[in-house]
Formats: sequence, C-alpha cells, structure tokens
Amino acid sequence: MALIGDLRAYPHFPGFDPLTPGQLEDPFAELAQARAEQPVFYMEKYGMWVVTRHEDVWAAYKDQASFSNAVAHQPRCPRPQSILDRKGDWALPVDGNLNTIDQPTHMPLKRVWKTALDRAVDGIGPWLDRRIEELVSAFEDRGEADLVEVLTWPLTVSTVAHLIGAADEDAEKFKGWAEGWFELTGSSALSPEHAEACWHGFVDFEEYIERLIADRRREPRDDFASFLIAEQVKGAPISDREIVTNTIGVVAAGSDTTANAIGQMMHLLLSSPDRLQDVRALPELRANVIEETLRLRGPVRCEIRTTARDVTLSGVTIPQGAMVCLHLGSASRDESLFDRADEFDPRRERLSRHMAFGALSRVCIGAPLARLEMRKTLDVVIDRFPRLRLADDQAPLRYTESLVVPSLRSLKVKW
Ligand code: HEM
Repeated sequence: MALIGDLRAYPHFPGFDPLTPGQLEDPFAELAQARAEQPVFYMEKYGMWVVTRHEDVWAAYKDQASFSNAVAHQPRCPRPQSILDRKGDWALPVDGNLNTIDQPTHMPLKRVWKTALDRAVDGIGPWLDRRIEELVSAFEDRGEADLVEVLTWPLTVSTVAHLIGAADEDAEKFKGWAEGWFELTGSSALSPEHAEACWHGFVDFEEYIERLIADRRREPRDDFASFLIAEQVKGAPISDREIVTNTIGVVAAGSDTTANAIGQMMHLLLSSPDRLQDVRALPELRANVIEETLRLRGPVRCEIRTTARDVTLSGVTIPQGAMVCLHLGSASRDESLFDRADEFDPRRERLSRHMAFGALSRVCIGAPLARLEMRKTLDVVIDRFPRLRLADDQAPLRYTESLVVPSLRSLKVKW
C-alpha cells in the first residue's frame, strides 16, 4: 500500500478502535459521533481510512474505478513459516474470487456465479424446512440451549454444504475455517498462534474444496460446483482455479454472515419482551424484523477497498493507494436516511435502504437465501417456543476478532 504524505496531517478520529472488546460489541456511539464530526478519517493503528456516512459509502460503491476490490479479502497477519513450508509460493484461495475482481471482468463473471447460485437455491425451501425441523427437534426438550451452537451455525453451514454438494458431516469443519478466514482478513492483531491456526484452516479449506471439485468433475451432480464445471465445458471463460476460489467464497460468505444475522435477530427480539410479543401477534411484521436486524446489526460491518486514485469524500481527500474501510454498519444507521437511527423499529418505511448487503453491481448474490433462512428460522422459533427468553447467564454479546465480520460466539436462551 503506497501512502503519500504526512500521516499526522490526515484527519483522525481517536475514539474509534473497532477491535477493542467494547467496540467489537458495539461501535455505534463512536460511529455516530464520527458521522457528525469527522465522517472520513484515518486509523493510524490499522493503516486504514474509514468512511462512515451513507452518502459517501454509496458514492464509493458507485465509483468502482476509484475504489478497487482487489484487496478486499487479504489476510492482515503475515504468513507463518509453517505455511511457507507447507505451501511454498502459494496463491491465496481468495485471489480470483468474484469479490476480489474489479470491472470490467467482474460483472460478466458475476452473472455466471449468480446463475449458478440461483439455480442451486431454487426450490431449497422444503430442504430448509426439514433441516430446521431436524435441528430444532434435537434440542426442543432441553429447556435451555446456546442457539449459536445448536441452531444458527449448524443451519447455515449445512445449507452452504448442501448447495455445493458437500457431506453434512464435513459441514462442521466449515465453521472454524470460515470464522478463521474472517479473523485473518479482519484483524492485524491476532496472537501468532491463533493466526497460524487460521492460516492452516485456510489451506485445509482450499484442499477440501479442491478434492470436492475433482470429485464433481468425475461424477457431476445437481449442485453449484457441477453447474460451474458444466458451464466451463460449454465454453464459459471460467478457470479451474476460479471454480475452487468461488466455491470457497460461497461457503465463507454464506455461512458466517447468515449465522450471525439469525443470532442478532433473535437477540434483538429477546432483549425486549414487547418486541417479541409484537412479532408474535403480527406475523406481517416479520419481513421487516429481518430488514431492521440487517440495518441495525448487519453481520458485515464493513467492506475493504483500495483507492486507485486520489478521491475526495465529505471534503477529505483520501490518497491513491490507500486502504479504505467502507463502514456499512455506520451507513445503515445514518440519521439522514433513518430517524431515530439507533432504535429497533420494524414499522419503519423504506427499511431496505440499509447497506447490509452492499449495493449496486457489488450487491450480495446470496441475499435472497440469507433472507429465506432468517425468515424460516424466525417462524419456527417464534411459533414453537412461546416461553423463549434470554438465559440468566447470557452476558453481553461476545465476538471473534474481526472488523469485517465479527462472529457471535454464543447466544444462551431458555424456555
Ligand atoms: C445475512 C447474510 C449476508 C450478508 C449480510 C452478506 C453481505 C454481503 C455484502 C456486504 C457483500 C458485498 C461485498 C462488497 O461490497 O464487495 C456481499 C457479497 C457477496 N455475498 Fe453475501 N452476505 C450474506 C449472505 C450470503 C450468502 C448466503 C451467500 C451465498 C450462499 C453470499 C455470497 C456472496 C457473494 C458470492 C458475494 C460477492 C458478490 C460480488 O462481489 O459481486 N452472501 N455479501
């Protein structure tokens, strides 16, 4: 990253440090202050600019020539020696992933991946119903449970496993790999031992997916990878490597995010008996509960870009070659779009203006599936557990260490 000029001359906002335990839990008071006082600023500690206002984040999404995705998912902790020994000069399994490609290549490829995903998701409803039923009936007699352990993660990893055609028992491994990936790409402050474990998980993940793709080449099935292979055989410009990196991308992008979204939705509802009561009584509010959760507690807090030229936002010039954090969570609470922006209010109008799924040509292709998983889980949990509440020992929410996707560690409930 080339940074030009005197770092001290850049605008700073010292109150914001997204990896401190307090702000991993809740960075929103500091972000509201930043939106009002210093909407674009430089975080010296992480070598990164932060963009907090909706209009600026939106402008960056529109100006893809200036804001490149190429380093969106680069690990922020160095490769340990054991990885160099294991893999040598190894191209990361995120390079070539849809989310790390800029225009003009991005959109034509996105159409292929979107078709592949839509096709795999089409008709998934009955499968999801069965899976949720299976998971819920395994714990419903217990009277208490950690929803992250028994429901949110098992559901979302088995869903992506189902999409790509992996065995259910393998899906369990995806949790550690996906969380580790977001920790490596979202924190430069992991302990060396933990970073090393995340790195090895990254390699295991890649080797697993390579084996799966090789199997599908030999024996195609009706799944995401088999469809991409068939498209490639028909002449679509997709390399073998892209099939691997994008299958990894779907697993990582689709499991951690959706598990967190479901957990956050349940936490928001259970934090106030009135809310739960309201949503029980008025099923028509449920779609908005999902949007309001995504607005207030979107699992992807920010997206990382690099500037291809000097760019000015809210009067601040970010130099060429800078790393930039587009804060989606902050943009979704911008008071210029939403009154009482920090309040949970599923009766708001035009709720879907939040930025939880990104925007424009970079919008999430898994959004329909994520919304479906959230809705089906919400219906089952609300209807099957009339006495559901937070467990007495449910402390404030704790997260894994990532400024991009901090992952909810547990959500203890009883009924
Ligand atoms: C609540 C759950 C989810 C959230 C909050 C979320 C959020 C996002 C965001 C913010 C982006 C934009 C990235 C950028 O700006 O560069 C994105 C892109 C993407 N998401 Fe999701 N996502 C979710 C679920 C899923 C699921 C279930 C899948 C697939 C099964 C998925 C697959 C993808 C892919 C492939 C991209 C890349 C699109 C591109 O670069 O054009 N996501 N997601």
